[in-house]
Amino acid sequence: MFVPGAPTASSRTRIDLGKGWMEEVSRGRLFPLYANRAVANVHVLLRMDKERKLIVAGNWKSNKTNSEAVALVTDLIRELAAVKEVDVVVCPAFTALSDVSKLILGSNIRLGAQNLSDSGYGAFTGEIAPGMLRELSVRYVILGHSERRQFQKESDALVAKKAANAHANNLIPIVCVGETLAEREANITEKVVESQTRGSLAGLTAEQVESTVLAYEPVWAIGTGKTATSAQAQEVHAFIRKVIVSMHGEAIARRVRIQYGGSVKGSNARELLQQPDIDGALVGGASLESKGFVEIIKNSI
Ligand code: 13P
Repeated sequence: MFVPGAPTASSRTRIDLGKGWMEEVSRGRLFPLYANRAVANVHVLLRMDKERKLIVAGNWKSNKTNSEAVALVTDLIRELAAVKEVDVVVCPAFTALSDVSKLILGSNIRLGAQNLSDSGYGAFTGEIAPGMLRELSVRYVILGHSERRQFQKESDALVAKKAANAHANNLIPIVCVGETLAEREANITEKVVESQTRGSLAGLTAEQVESTVLAYEPVWAIGTGKTATSAQAQEVHAFIRKVIVSMHGEAIARRVRIQYGGSVKGSNARELLQQPDIDGALVGGASLESKGFVEIIKNSI
């Protein structure tokens, strides 16, 4: 029996399978995952580079009325009840946060918002202060999405301010970076992604960076059906991790989770998420229906 995941057990041997994979065999013991079963030998496939739990988030963008959001999350709660290996997050529009928050209470689904003010309460028309999200048990906030960078002209400096505000208020930022097609074709992907990563994390402490989730979303792959190949994505993810090494050292960089986003669907999730530096997915279109989103999560386990 092969079970993906990385729980610990005291009586175990590990066999190096190469390419960052190991097989762990736990003998003659109750294994934590199967505490209700006396299992003699449990084989677990470990991604040795992954001390990081996968995180798959659905970014619903400006879709779903409140009642549609409620219907979708009701399905997700049922379909994903048994999932423990992946942090599952839904990010509805602000108007649906309150009802979705009540529904997911006690479930394994966590709540994210799609933006956050760089300030607190006050005379900031149209902004959402951290306390408003905290009251609804929102845990994550998507910041610096390319759509906001493009349409709202959000800069790295603003994203960094928002990320600091998130951390100061116990919200986990999901900070997005990614190059456009023109930038990829001009061979400046690394330059762009490095300056976005440094700029958007500027001023955060090492501990704050460690708990930040990054999302690499090549702009040319968003909503286009064109996914980066797993090799292309892995290359940039490894590069982003290197940038974090240079900012905060190896130990912090090893713990930062980096999601991939851009036309992720059930059929490509497994290959993408098996890459050593890809720690989850930020999903747009395919998260708008429970079937598609559930398939991605099940295929990533
Ligand atoms: P798609 O999955 O629709 O390409 O969107 C990705 C995205 O922008 C998630 O934030």
